[in-house]
Amino acid sequence: MDTDRLLRELKDFLRIPSVSTNPLHNADCRAAAEWVAGELRRLGCHEVQFLASGTHPVVWGVGPEVPGAPTLLVYGHYDVQPPDPLDEWTTPPFEPTVRDGKLFARGAADDKGQVFCLLKAIEANGRPRVNLRFLIEGEEEYGSRVLFDLLRREPERTRADVVLVADMAYIAPRWPAVYTTLRGLCYAEITVRTAKSDLHSGEFGGAAPNAHEELARLLGRLKTPDGKIHIPGLYASVKRPSQLELATWKRLPFKEGEFLKHRVQAKALTGLKAYSVLERLWALPTFEIHGIMGGFTGEGAKTVIPAEATAKVSLRLVPNQRLKVVERQLAAAIRRLAPKHVHASVKFLHGADPATVKVTHPAFKVLDQAFREVVGRGTVPARAGGSIPVVPALGRGGAPVILTGIGLPDDRLHAPNEKLDVKQLWDGIRVFGRFYELLGAARM
Ligand code: BES
Ligand code: MN
Ligand code: MN
Repeated sequence: MDTDRLLRELKDFLRIPSVSTNPLHNADCRAAAEWVAGELRRLGCHEVQFLASGTHPVVWGVGPEVPGAPTLLVYGHYDVQPPDPLDEWTTPPFEPTVRDGKLFARGAADDKGQVFCLLKAIEANGRPRVNLRFLIEGEEEYGSRVLFDLLRREPERTRADVVLVADMAYIAPRWPAVYTTLRGLCYAEITVRTAKSDLHSGEFGGAAPNAHEELARLLGRLKTPDGKIHIPGLYASVKRPSQLELATWKRLPFKEGEFLKHRVQAKALTGLKAYSVLERLWALPTFEIHGIMGGFTGEGAKTVIPAEATAKVSLRLVPNQRLKVVERQLAAAIRRLAPKHVHASVKFLHGADPATVKVTHPAFKVLDQAFREVVGRGTVPARAGGSIPVVPALGRGGAPVILTGIGLPDDRLHAPNEKLDVKQLWDGIRVFGRFYELLGAARM
């Protein structure tokens, strides 16, 4: 492998600040799409198109026809999350830098570095005898609405024997994984209004309602310190993992104490204490507050009673919850919990249903074999706490969706100093290269 050249090329891709949620980066998202399209053309795809290019385009590619060979649909995303807080990065997020065998950049692990592996793997072992299709989107970090709509209009895009999604991590160093569930997501803004306009806190303080205070109380009622979420009906459809599955989790290389000390790096874990940490991360819904806006947050001091306050929140959903149902439940809970004198409203920004995949199809054996040969251990089945909105739709054509990845648990996705270990990068190219090769030889 020409590692110098490959690293240079990945750095070019990572240098493009393709932040999909921020319209200021629309041109950068397009540039990242162009980068992917250029690679696909170079790899001999005869059909490379930008689909739904009204927003960040979905890059579609069709590899050379191999009659009689299986069809593999490869999914990934070229968009990234915003890089802030910028001053916490050791080197800037869009100036990829290798330190200590790790490549630091926004998108290094999520997901540009993995898309890179999937593409470069095509040349790793000579041309694979597989009919390759590519769907590389630019809105995953923003809810994938465009790709959703596209797949609803053109479901034949997912016609394949196997779908491969590499947007996740090993469960621990040297422990590759294949994921059986992803959590869903319900992202919303909750706004409370308490008066016509802001008020002087001396003239009115003591007698006028305060929007921030009301919002804080409302949020505090929605989730209590014991970790319980107080949204009527929310837990009703949650399907508990089987005793067998819970037992297999106990054998995974995961220690709650180490998770707290090395990964969370806080003083304590929170949540529903009656459940193991893995069950809380993988099989229970969450409610998180992402940010609170309104009132006065500028330099200095201002004595004001804010009339309006907004919180960005989200819930993670688990099998068998449904996004549409949870949206209704959250809206109803807010109506019920907000006092009469407060006008509370909720706006839904994006979301996803949870995904469940069976890992029994022979293609999973092929991936297991590829990992076994390259890294010395096969894939362990696990669940994921994160979400990839379009996964249920990718499986709608009936093909098994393989959820895997070459990241590591400490890659700091969405956070400052995101990284990808350079060894994972080379192994990733080899693993997917071998996967393509074995898939071409497999009878399914
Ligand atoms: N690659 C992640 C999803 C992921 C992370 C799966 C960790 C498993 C473990 C993906 O890019 C992501 O961050 N998705 C968003 C989706 C959302 C913005 C709709 C997420 O999970 O927050
Ligand atoms: Mn991702
Ligand atoms: Mn992500």
